[in-house]
Amino acid sequence: MKKSLRDLKDLTGKRVLIRVDFNVPIDKKTGAITNDRRIQAALPTIRHVLANGACAIVMSHLGRPKGDAQADAFLKMDRVAERLRELLNVPVKKADAVVGPEVASLVGALKPGEVLVLENLRFHPGEKDGDEEFARQLAQLGDVYVNDAFGTCHRKDASMYAVPKAMRGKPRVVGFLVAKELEVLGKLLSAPDRPLVGVMGGAKVSDKIEFIKSLLKRVDKLLIGGAMTYTFLAAQGKSVGNSLCENDKLDLARELLELGAGKMVLPVDHVAVERVDPTAATRVFQAEIPAGWAGVDIGPETIALYEKEISQAKTVVWNGPMGRFEDEPFSRGTRAIAEAMAKCGGVTIVGGGETADAVERFGLDEKMTHVSTGGGAFLEFIQGVPFPALEEIDAIE
Ligand code: 3PG
Repeated sequence: MKKSLRDLKDLTGKRVLIRVDFNVPIDKKTGAITNDRRIQAALPTIRHVLANGACAIVMSHLGRPKGDAQADAFLKMDRVAERLRELLNVPVKKADAVVGPEVASLVGALKPGEVLVLENLRFHPGEKDGDEEFARQLAQLGDVYVNDAFGTCHRKDASMYAVPKAMRGKPRVVGFLVAKELEVLGKLLSAPDRPLVGVMGGAKVSDKIEFIKSLLKRVDKLLIGGAMTYTFLAAQGKSVGNSLCENDKLDLARELLELGAGKMVLPVDHVAVERVDPTAATRVFQAEIPAGWAGVDIGPETIALYEKEISQAKTVVWNGPMGRFEDEPFSRGTRAIAEAMAKCGGVTIVGGGETADAVERFGLDEKMTHVSTGGGAFLEFIQGVPFPALEEIDAIE
């Protein structure tokens, strides 16, 4: 068990260095933040630090900068700092560098209750390289290290691993967000209430092979949706018309079907269109999709079947939409899964950016036990991949 912020008794006058995951989606044309879920999720930790008489030095990466000033202009942390200021309603300063004299003097001037946001960590090459000298400079900024960046916990970037390592001897804990992710997802792996139902969607089987394999070991049922359905159907020799299909992955799909025999449930009907356009007329096909048609959502019989499975579950874990939910006419399947989970009364866990977006769009995020802030980190955690970033966090003795 890792120590959390709650285990630190006295923060008065401390400089608390908080690694958050403010890697938020940005509008490529305007640079505006299109979803601030990850910023909102870190607020309890930052508020706790400020309310306990400390100041917060907040650091994150944003996107994957290429080292080209023009292309990377939207990846500066200014808008993130601005959004944080609006949400916290306290003084939030922003440094234009990651380390160096400017940062040191801004940190020196910070008063209890104030926040400083560092520039995008990945603007410094030492971040991705896990550079120890760079980490040492960051480590000097804080008296306490807090990891509240669940979405980045599967990375060994300097701020995730080398910084807490350089701070051995000082308190190093997880924030409230990471603590909750570890608690809920940890229970899902170790002792889930059963029946445990997995719901799996998304476009490609090949992106999620390891995830599907590990889910199959844990779940009692795995309900499949999204375009990956058509690769599975094609692997069974069924016609999928013009639907998205990974024709070069049919052997792999057959292997997964074999592995999942008795557990994996495929859609029994499909909503399809002749042209993938939200205004196109839809038709429902049973079992197979004829030439000229492309599947875009699960059909009504599948919805009823999946609703029944979910209503009987004690735990449901969901990753990947059931269809092209961004287009309202094709969003019924995804919405029905979200609604069934909201009603089911068991533990409900949603993971992955797109699925979390969908649940939020339907206004059902508050009805879930947990909406993970992790994308890749969520998938890797459930696969049982160990996170080196957590090795350097103090354990509860
Ligand atoms: C994510 O969005 O999954 C995390 O912020 C990690 O980002 P990365 O994949 O660029 O390391």
